[in-house]
This record gives sequence, C-alpha cells and structure tokens, in this order.
Amino acid sequence: FSEALIDSFSRRHDYLRISLTERCNLRCFYCMPEEGVELTPKANLLTDSELLRLGKLFVESGVTKIRLTGGEPTVRAGIGEIIAGLNDLRPYGLKSIAMTSNGLALHRRLPGFVENGLSHLNLSLDTLDPFKFEFMTKRRGLDAVLKTLNVALESPYLKKVKLNVVVVKGLNDSEVLDFVEMTRNKPISVRFIEFMPFTGNKWDKFKMVPSTDLLQIISNKYPGVVRITDEANDTARSWKIPGYQGEFGFISSMSDHFCSTCNRLRITSDGQIKVCLFDAKEVSLRDEMRRGASDSDLLHIIGRAVLGKQEKHVHMENIDVVSNRPMILIGG
Ligand code: GTP
Ligand code: 5AD
Ligand code: SF4
Repeated sequence: FSEALIDSFSRRHDYLRISLTERCNLRCFYCMPEEGVELTPKANLLTDSELLRLGKLFVESGVTKIRLTGGEPTVRAGIGEIIAGLNDLRPYGLKSIAMTSNGLALHRRLPGFVENGLSHLNLSLDTLDPFKFEFMTKRRGLDAVLKTLNVALESPYLKKVKLNVVVVKGLNDSEVLDFVEMTRNKPISVRFIEFMPFTGNKWDKFKMVPSTDLLQIISNKYPGVVRITDEANDTARSWKIPGYQGEFGFISSMSDHFCSTCNRLRITSDGQIKVCLFDAKEVSLRDEMRRGASDSDLLHIIGRAVLGKQEKHVHMENIDVVSNRPMILIGG
C-alpha cells in the first residue's frame, strides 16, 4: 500500500470514485441547481486514456474499488470501453468496479457493462410514485428505472444491488415503508439517505429527515426489525426484517457522520482530486498530466493532497456550501 494514499489520521484510501461526466438525463433538485451548471468544455475533461492512467496509478498504489459516478455516468460516450479498461486492472489488485446510476437509460446496456467487468450497481430511486418521480426529477421515467432494477436483479454476476433513496420531508418520507416492503421479495439493499447541502440545492434542515425518525416509523410497523453487521467502511448502518430477502440501511451523513472510517478519494470529470466530499479544495491532476508529469510526480501530488485531508467535516450547518461544487459536478 503506497504511503501516498494514507492520510495524517492513518486512514488508508482504497476506494476511488471517478466522475465520468457533468451531464445528466434527470434534473433532481437536490443535485442539480435549478439554473443548471456551466459545463466544462470537452477539451478540459479527462480523456479515456488519462482516466485509465490515473485508475492504474491508484490501483497500483492500493485502491481495490473504483466507483463510476457522474452526473449520470451512462451519458458518457464510451463508458463500456472505460469499464473494460478498468477491468484490465484486476491483475494489479482492483477487485470491484462499481457504478452509481439513475437507471434511466440503462436496462438494455447493463448486461454488456456487466460483461465488460462491472461488478456492483447502486441505483438512485427516490419514489415509487410516477407523479412524484416526475416532480422530483423533472422527467418521466419511473418504469425505465424499475426495468433496470429487474435486469440488475437477474444478472448473476452483479453483487448486491443497492437502491439509494434521498429522503426529503413532505416529498417522499411517506414512502419509507413501501421501500422497506420492496425488500420482502427482492435481495436488494435499500439505503435511506439524509438530504445533504450543496451549492444551489436549496437545502434546509427542515427538509431533512434524521435517520432516527425513519427507524422509529419502521420499527413501529415491524417490531422485530434487527440490526445487521455492516461491511467495513460502509456508509450505511443496516437493518433487516427477519424473513425478508433484502435489507435496508441509513446513510446519516448529517446526523452521524462516518468520517473516521472514510476510505474514499474522488476524481472529478475535469481531473481534480478531491479528498473529501465536503471540502472544496481540489488539485488538478489533469494539468499535471498535460504538463508531462511522470507517475511518480503524480503520486507525489496525490500524496500531498491526501495529507491535507481533514479529520472530519465541520458541523453540517457550517459547511462551506458556496465554494464546494454542486453535487452534480462531484458525483456523490
Ligand atoms: P458503496 O460503494 O456501495 O458503499 O456506495 P456508497 O454509499 O459509498 O455510494 P453511492 O454512490 O451509492 O452514494 C450513496 C450516498 O452516500 C450518496 O448520498 C453519497 O453522496 C453518499 N456518500 C458517498 N461517499 C460519501 C462520503 O465519503 N461522505 C459522505 N458524507 N457521504 C458519502
Ligand atoms: N444529499 C444526499 N444524497 C444526494 N445524492 C445526490 N444529491 C444528494 C444530496 N444533496 C445522491 C444521489 C445518488 C448519489 C450519488 O448521491 O441520489 O444516489
Ligand atoms: Fe442526475 Fe443523479 Fe444528480 Fe439526479 S442525483 S440530477 S439523477 S446525477
């Protein structure tokens, strides 16, 4: 494991999230500012080969899991080839190739991606009501997402499929029990996510539903609900209804952050390394590569950025939302 990926609090970063694009085919208000975002000119985005070069460098340094994010990763041209290119890194130590997608335009392409090496899929789906879906995403498409979910569940090579539900008070919090019911016959992991503040997403604490409130609602209906063991470095605390095939969990970034076990680094689609989701500070690896940096130069720069990682993010209400990017440009 390379020193470069160990921070000053001894956290080892073996998980890299790579954003493939700033674009998206939905317009979820909690992610995309209403006025849209200024897109980076294509020439300033990482090319496939720059991206794969960085992937290889990180894997050689100890990264075992890469998650592709966006925007919406499936709108990036050539994503199939990128997955295949990452798959070639398995001999160097890469174990998982994951993707977080809204599933809108994925059901036909998913089997091909899995063939190319995709091993984990997290699907974003906040509501099971077609009208609310359109209200929250500004597009129609609930059926398409559910189709993707079914294709994913039929794929024998995909590990556990996770469903991300960002809970917003007064919008979809009434559907929590419906999502729990989905775990009865589906071997999925539903994760209820606390709404987090980012530039332009109109966050306020009254729109956020603390996970403890949701657990209360769930245990009123299912008194037998049990806590289950989480995977190492998991963002979610998981629970299960005995006898149900799937499980559910809470990603409580706001009320109970998990910074002490953080193992994540991020690369934005324009090639900046971002050491914390809530830290606006970024360093351009793209510029260094285009200036001719060697792998050891890059590793040195990465190491310096990692050493600058803070122990934990400041209290949520003091988060510097303004200088941090909107979520659509970070990828979660
Ligand atoms: P796994 O790789 O399966 O553990 O997925 P994940 O939960 O890390 O990632 P996903 O892309 O599915 O995101 C689910 C939620 O977790 C989103 O709201 C992300 O913004 C949030 N999330 C992911 N990584 C971090 C992190 O490092 N810190 C915080 N606070 N939230 C994160
Ligand atoms: N708060 C919490 N989660 C968010 N996501 C996007 N924006 C937010 C936010 N403001 C989630 C998406 C996706 C994941 C990458 O991040 O639903 O599943
Ligand atoms: Fe697109 Fe996902 Fe952001 Fe919604 S949450 S705008 S689907 S990237």
